[in-house]
This record gives sequence, structure tokens and C-alpha cells, in this order.
Amino acid sequence: EDVSVPRGSSRDLVEILAANNKKALVLFASQTGTAEDYSHKFAKEFQSRFSIPTMCGDLADYDYENLNEIFTSIDGFQLVVFFTATYGEGEPPDNAVEFFDYLENECDDLSNLKFSCFGLGNSTYEFYNAMGKKTVSTLTEKGATLVGELGLGDDGRGTMDEDYMAWKDGLFDILKDQLSLEEHELVYEPQIKIEESVLTIDSPEVSLGEPDDKYINPSQEEAQSLNEGPFDHTHPYLAPITVSRELFNSDSRHCIHAEFDISDSNLKYTTGDHLAIWPSNSNEHVFKFLDILGLSEKKDVVIDIKSLDPTVHPHVISPSTYEAVVRHYLEISGPVSRQFVGSVAQFAPTEQAKAHASKLGKDKALFHEEVTSRYLNIADLLHVLSDGVKWTSIPFAFIIESVAHLQPRYYSISSSSLSEKQAIHVTAVVEQEKYPNVDHIVTGVATNLLFNIQLAQNKVSNVKPVVTYDLAGPRQKFAPFKLPVHVRRSTFKLPSNPATPIICIGPGTGVAPFRGFIRERVAQTANDISVGKTLLFFGCRNSSEDFLYKDEFVDYSKKLGEKFELVTAFSRETAEKVYVQHKMLERAKEISELLNDGAFFYVCGDAARMARDVQNVLIRIMMSERKVTESIATDMVKNLRVLNRYQEDVW
Ligand code: FAD
Ligand code: 2AM
Repeated sequence: EDVSVPRGSSRDLVEILAANNKKALVLFASQTGTAEDYSHKFAKEFQSRFSIPTMCGDLADYDYENLNEIFTSIDGFQLVVFFTATYGEGEPPDNAVEFFDYLENECDDLSNLKFSCFGLGNSTYEFYNAMGKKTVSTLTEKGATLVGELGLGDDGRGTMDEDYMAWKDGLFDILKDQLSLEEHELVYEPQIKIEESVLTIDSPEVSLGEPDDKYINPSQEEAQSLNEGPFDHTHPYLAPITVSRELFNSDSRHCIHAEFDISDSNLKYTTGDHLAIWPSNSNEHVFKFLDILGLSEKKDVVIDIKSLDPTVHPHVISPSTYEAVVRHYLEISGPVSRQFVGSVAQFAPTEQAKAHASKLGKDKALFHEEVTSRYLNIADLLHVLSDGVKWTSIPFAFIIESVAHLQPRYYSISSSSLSEKQAIHVTAVVEQEKYPNVDHIVTGVATNLLFNIQLAQNKVSNVKPVVTYDLAGPRQKFAPFKLPVHVRRSTFKLPSNPATPIICIGPGTGVAPFRGFIRERVAQTANDISVGKTLLFFGCRNSSEDFLYKDEFVDYSKKLGEKFELVTAFSRETAEKVYVQHKMLERAKEISELLNDGAFFYVCGDAARMARDVQNVLIRIMMSERKVTESIATDMVKNLRVLNRYQEDVW
């Protein structure tokens, strides 16, 4: 008897949990997919450790009216676990807006609810883990019982994985104690099934890495609708890159300016929004990964990927091929998690590899020494562990279930929707780093893809990229130069009155959205709209290597006259470092006066140090110029934030 109610067919939590016989629930509030990946990982381990059927779901997929009744309506129901990411200035992820709205405005009683919560945040931001904290405070206010402690995952210190492991292990101990749950040895229980198909790679219904199933074998009518949107994290627009160019003047460092043509679509943006770019993996990473799994020969074999649990939806399109899955849907080149190493040990090809992997899985310090500090990815590590012997016993289902799925990367749009109505520009610095004592050059997925496109588009033959890509994409659909994209609305916006002055702090690629702001003001000026002053602080290493848009700024100065001023800080031209905040101090009086005249203050770029340093310097400027104490100056800056006159776009 099949009583299952697949995900998506009902929004009624009790109904869907009961129909699928689930006794625990994991819900995620995720913006970029990290919280989502952790929640799946947790749900799987929880289910298998305690033999409790667990459902993992997206907060946006359900109604919450009967959240409190889950525990009374479903016999033996144990726990709800929330994975809550904090985004930007302490805002909830898009998929959780309605949930928090419900909690705050409609929900009155949650006294039956037993829950745990892991927050994902970044300690370099002011509102560190605000949404995780809010989940706990709001639910407990409504009478719910928190089991264990709120977990605080910190991306800012790069300890997310270890924070998660520590929280999870602690929670499992508490659960054994408080809920008398019985723990089992962890064995792999597949949630999806992979079968090699009779189809071949040239069957039109096979996914070769299309960004979503609408792109696979569309009818003529459907093909037309692909340009109509709406475009979001489930359905991107395949945008042509019409122009790309190198912005740095250096042999070793690169920064790409790329222009996406949106004229054939109804993709819309406004100045200050973010462009999400959906990357695919490099040839080198894909082939090394397939090779160590012993799948090189079978890379084009078509596989059916079926869910064994109607509530589980793998992030891959089926049927597909081994190569397409690895190239387009899995995050294979980033850091490996300790948990992955521990769980892959069971499939090791040699006793030695098995012992070593298990040990790494358990020993945090050893893992750091041998894996993290060497910047190994999954394939590198498997290779090292087995000395090159192929790991042919790892079920491919395990790979799909355990490896994070490849996520879009976000870029601050560097064009203006007023001056570039039909194009979206981005400014991306290419991630390629040679670390001391690390043999290989560590590369980022999306930025090296943009770099390769730039080289191919401009027919640059004398520069050899560290990694290469299949630029044509599935069925040549990305040729000559297209990438799947969507726009994410942001709150980083120009003042509604163009006459309001703005102070912009944007070192490095932090200048991206300010280029958009300035272009907007240039377009407004051309339309006889009078604009306020734009005071831009830009910083880079030196004036001849990484001075982004140097020539353009000259042009903006001509067009905007005294309404635009660029202040530069070159950090490596003098013995002492000069940063944007040092230049701010030199202009303290003017900054204070502009703020007095209602100016908006914007910071974009590095969240780890720069954004905080800049805020501290602004506080100092207020102290000295307004002759107030530190605490009053701090309040003044806080107040600017409250008034939305201090805005940050930092990463
Ligand atoms: P990824 O593949 O995501 O890698 C990330 C980092 O990990 C890289 O530094 C890489 O070298 C390193 N890495 C790779 N493999 C390993 C390994 N095995 N072990 C350890 N480390 C490894 N960036 C811009 O350039 N311009 C912008 O305007 C911009 N705007 C942004 C706006 C927002 C809101 C956000 C959130 C981010 C923004 N970013 C911007 C950053 C951007 O989204 C990407 O994070 C960045 O470009 C790197 O992407 P990637 O795919 O190239 O690198
Ligand atoms: P550095 O790399 O020479 O230290 C863009 O990356 C520019 O920002 C570079 O000139 C870089 O200088 C500078 N930078 C580094 N740390 C900074 C900080 N904390 N505040 C402001 N600028 C910083």
C-alpha cells in the first residue's frame, strides 16, 4: 500500500509527516544553500543513528497553523530541528520570511513543540546569527521547549563545519539522555537509488547538465517561455555574455568585467541588486573526481536517479550521466568536511585507507593538519588516502547524497538599470591562490569560468588558465558564451531622492555596485535631473596594477564635474599601508558635513575586516568632528543604520 504524499503535493505538515510515517522534522531557512545542505546531512544522520524516520523540508513549502499539533497528532513524534541562516543585515533568508511573519503575527501557542536549532552566521557581521537567535527566542516565547543549545555556526572564522559537528555531537548526547533515544552504529542507508539506464547520452530526455528541467528537450512553445521567467534559484535565464574584459594589469592576478545581455528576456533588475551566476566545474576537477571513483570509462553512461523516500528530492536532474552530475550539480572542488571523510571510510579500497579516513573523521587536529591546511578537495584527499587506488565501492548514490550541491555565486551588479536597461555588468576577481607549502594552485569555480570565457571571447592565446572548462555546455546550449543567471533583489539602494549626497567606501571589487551608482547618476544628469555629490573612496594595491575602471572614472569626472570625487588609497605603493579608512580620516570634516546634509553612507566589499574598520573610523570621525563621546558617536552611527542611511553590501 502506497500512502506516501510526495513533497510539494501538500502544505499541511501533519498530513505529510503522517502519510510518510515520519517521526522527526528538519526545516531549513537557507539563502545560498548552505543551511539546506547541513539540514539534509543532519536529517540523514539523525534518522540513521536513532532509527527515527526523519523528513527534511524547505520552510517555504509548508503552512504552520498546525506546527503545535504535530506532537499530539502523530504518535511517537520526537523533534523539530531548525537550520536557520542569517543573511545580510540580520534578515531572514527569502524562504523563511513567511514563517517568521507567521510566528510573530499569528502564532499564539507552541507549548507542545520540542525543537533544536542550528544557526548559520558570520561573526564579522554586526547581526551575528540573528535569525538563529530569533528562532529560539520566538519559539520559546510561544511556549516551545528548546532541546540542547542553539548551535552557532560561524562562517566568518571559517569554522562552520567544526561548529556544526560540535553542536550535533552535543545534541545527540542530550537526546539520548532527555528523549531516551537509542543510538546505533552509523551505517549508510541510501535515500536514492541509481540505476544505469538503457538510454544513451544522445537521447534528448537525458540531462547533460541543463540548469533545470525546462531546458531539457523543450517543445518549441516551451523553448520560447524559457526567456519569459520568472527567473529565480530554481529557474535561471541562460544569458549571453556579450562583452568581457580583463581589468587588472598583472601576470598573476586577474579581475573580470563581464556584461550579460538580458534584452531577449524579461529579466529585470534595479541598481544595487545581485546577479547569481550558476557555474559548472572545471575539466581538471571533473576528470580527477571521476577518475578516483573509477568512473572515467563510464562517464557517459546514462543513469536514472530515483528517490527511495518521497520526501527526498536530490538536487540533480534524472536521467543524467555520471559526468554531467559531477560537472554541473556537485560542489567537488571546495574544502572537504570532516564528516564526509569519516563516512566515506566504510567504502575505502584498502584497509590502510579505511583506517586513515576513520582516524581523520574523528581527529579534529589531525584533520586540520592533513586536510584543511593543505586545501585538499574530495578527489585530492581520496587520492592521498589510497595512494591512487580507485575508490570503486563508493555507491554513486552516496556521492550525490553526501557531496554538497553546486550553488550559484552572487555578484554585486556593477551596471545601472537606468543606463544599462538591457545588460547586467559584474566585476569579479579571479580566485586563484598559491599557498606556501601547498603544491597545487587553489581555484574558485565561478571566477575561473568567467576568466576562461574572457580568454576565449577575446581570443587571448598567450595566457594559460590554471583550470579549463567546457564552455559550450550541455548540447552546446551555452555556446558561444552564455551562462545561467538570475537576479536577487537587494536592499542596497541609492537614496530615492537623486539630490541626496552619497559617500561610498568600496576597496577592491567592493567598487562594483558604486560603478552602478555612478552610472545611474551620470544617466540622471544627462536627463537633466540634478544629482547630489558622490564621494567615492576606492582602494587597491597600486595605481598601475589593480586600479579598477581607472579610465572610466576620468570620464565620470568629466560628466559629473564637481558632483563626483574619487579618493584613492594605494596600499602597496608606500612603506606604510594606506587604506580607504585612512583617506576617510583625511576627509573627516567633509564626511561629517555631508552626513549633516543628509548624505547616505555605503560600504561594499570585504566583510572580514574592512567593513568593521570603516565603521570604527566613521565613529572616530563623528567623535572628533561633532565633539561627542564614543558612546554618542556609536549611537549616531547606529542611528544612521536604523534610518537606512548606512548600508552595507559585504561578503
Ligand atoms: P569558490 O569555488 O566558491 O571558492 C571559494 C574560495 O574557496 C576561493 O577563494 C577558493 O580559492 C577557495 N577554495 C577552493 N577550493 C578549496 C579547497 N579545496 N580548500 C580550501 N579552499 C578552497 N565577488 C566578486 O568578485 N565581486 C563581487 O561583486 C561580489 N559580490 C558579492 C556579493 C554578495 C552578496 C556575495 C555573497 C558575494 C559576492 N562576491 C563577489 C563573492 C562571490 O560570490 C564568490 O564567492 C567569489 O567570486 C568566489 O567564487 P568562486 O566560485 O570563484 O570560488
Ligand atoms: P592590502 O592587500 O595591500 O593589505 C583591495 O583589496 C584593497 O583593500 C587592497 O589595497 C588591500 O590592501 C586593502 N585592504 C586590506 N585590508 C583592508 C582593511 N582592513 N581595510 C581596508 N582596506 C583593506
